[in-house]
Amino acid sequence: MNRPYTIMLVAVSLDGKIAPERKPGQPNPVGPSLIAPDIMERHNSQRGSVDGIMVGLNCILLDDSRLTLRDAQGKNPTRIVLDGLAEMPAGARVLNDDAPTIVGVTADAPQDRVDAFKSKGANIIVCGRGKFVDLSPLVSELAHRWGIRRLLVEGGGTVHRSMIAANLYDEIHLIICPFIIGGARSITPVERSAFWPDETIPWVQLDKVEKLGDYLYVVYKPKVKT
Ligand SMILES: NC(=O)c1ccc[n+]([C@@H]2O[C@H](COP(=O)([O-])OP(=O)(O)OC[C@H]3O[C@@H](n4cnc5c(N)ncnc54)[C@H](OP(=O)(O)O)[C@@H]3O)[C@@H](O)[C@H]2O)c1
Repeated sequence: MNRPYTIMLVAVSLDGKIAPERKPGQPNPVGPSLIAPDIMERHNSQRGSVDGIMVGLNCILLDDSRLTLRDAQGKNPTRIVLDGLAEMPAGARVLNDDAPTIVGVTADAPQDRVDAFKSKGANIIVCGRGKFVDLSPLVSELAHRWGIRRLLVEGGGTVHRSMIAANLYDEIHLIICPFIIGGARSITPVERSAFWPDETIPWVQLDKVEKLGDYLYVVYKPKVKT
């Protein structure tokens, strides 16, 4: 196994947004404030089925996510934050001792910031240079050194783009919600530059569709080339 079996999970408004543009501390309406409790439970139950949950820095800065199980019984998965330059505040809730935390940084992260994470009990993986952590060696280390066999990637859009570009995923779970967010500057499930025309457009194939009241739970897998 070179990397964990990887599920990317995202809740999306009918118009394809995962969050409106907002300031830190303002809650994301594409979450518990709008999404029906039974659907949130379904979303959160995925956390109970994996060894690790990974997010990008902006999810921590904006949402201060704890990335722990909600209501469900069981062991919290290991939390992984991609934070190339170690910019996360040392008081972030993801660094509490509810579960082990790994911070992925690059060789350019300032040592005093990395030491601040370590003093909170976090483990550090160093991969690549600059702002973006090099994901292939990171996920390989998660599998081989940290025993992460199943990984849930919970966004945001920038991390999803990197995972798709590096072809490091096995399933995309999309919860399509019956409300409309709008906004040209809202965040979408895949952010940054378009794949076309410089990169090959990734194709996926439909695996499952479930109707949950007015919501759809849709699972896609990377398209197998024939
Ligand atoms: N509806 C949903 O299901 C859902 C789920 C999750 C998140 N969200 C929302 O999504 C938004 C956050 O998404 P986002 O696209 O702004 O940011 P993001 O994907 O959470 O974080 C991106 C940041 O992570 C860091 N990073 C380090 N290595 C990386 C790599 N290899 N690839 C990508 N990023 C890397 C970079 O920080 P630096 O550039 O600073 O180094 C990058 O800017 C929030 O509003 C959150 O609420 C919604």
